[in-house]
Amino acid sequence: MGNLIAKIIGAGDGEVTMHPNVSVAQSIVGSCFNWSGKRNKVVSEGLNFPSNLYIHRQLESLGARVVTVPSEDEITIPQDHLLCAIDDETLLVSVSHVIFKSAYIQDLAAITRRTHEVGALVIADIYQSAGTVPVNVRELDLDFATGGSVKWLCGGPGAGYLYVRRDLWPTLEPRLTGWVAHRNPFDFDPGPIDFAPDGYRFLNGTPNIPGLYAARSGYEILGEVGVENIRAKSIRQTSRLIALAEEAGYPVNSPKDSSQRGGTVTLDVPNGYEVTQELLRRDFLLDYRPGAGIRVAPHFYTKDEELDQVIQEIQSIARSTDSLTVAAQ
Ligand SMILES: Cc1ncc(COP(=O)(O)O)c(C=O)c1O
Repeated sequence: MGNLIAKIIGAGDGEVTMHPNVSVAQSIVGSCFNWSGKRNKVVSEGLNFPSNLYIHRQLESLGARVVTVPSEDEITIPQDHLLCAIDDETLLVSVSHVIFKSAYIQDLAAITRRTHEVGALVIADIYQSAGTVPVNVRELDLDFATGGSVKWLCGGPGAGYLYVRRDLWPTLEPRLTGWVAHRNPFDFDPGPIDFAPDGYRFLNGTPNIPGLYAARSGYEILGEVGVENIRAKSIRQTSRLIALAEEAGYPVNSPKDSSQRGGTVTLDVPNGYEVTQELLRRDFLLDYRPGAGIRVAPHFYTKDEELDQVIQEIQSIARSTDSLTVAAQ
């Protein structure tokens, strides 16, 4: 399964291992380092996914110093601030490729360049890009990447993944580990663990086999359609969605410039949570994030007319919510 994902994200065979979710994959990486030395900074951004931020904070008890660069507009991350925060006391730079709330695309090449310049390592959460925005972990020279299958990969829950740069394998011994990471797992050796020489060293316990079977077709379909084709259609459809939303008077909390925008458009609709619940009831599949808005995410199977339909439906629900509010007053 890891090899199918590897094809989509530009990794090689054996370089991607499967995990229950991103939270576990990120915790495995955090558990590989000694945080008590002078080089002990984790640099991240305020709009990183909360799990990742929680994991950084938990590393503080082992000696890590956490630096989180805030967003100034809740959509973008000031890249100059982020790059300045990366210094020779930095051990790990942990960033999202595409921000989950706003779909803002960060410049991973620039972040990786700066990170390597100071002798640190970079972990990118590519959950919101893989499958809709082209990512090539090798070309970007990433050290680690994590993601899952609930979104663009169409694989469902329980199929998270971790990429680790091959030449780092011998240097990493995760504290979050288990019998499957042993060189000879079926020896059931009481230890201490003798790590597998390959990517299996990043595994831990029994894998979620049914979840992985369920995810398989999603990756295969994605591989057939091709992420470059998906991206071209996505840019066209998200641009159309933004135009429709603006015509309807809804502020857009995603970048207007398509080169900075992933596959999602976040709309600031009054009573967004309630409107989303009603949309879901009417079989429109989307979601709502507090402080951001309604996330509309067309994929390769989305028809153009569905873009018009979703905006019309939001308007019709908003009108009925308004009249209910007026009646209540
Ligand atoms: C960027 C990003 N990372 C991680 C997750 C989810 O993490 P997990 O796989 O641990 O549930 C999400 C889900 O919304 C996400 O958008």
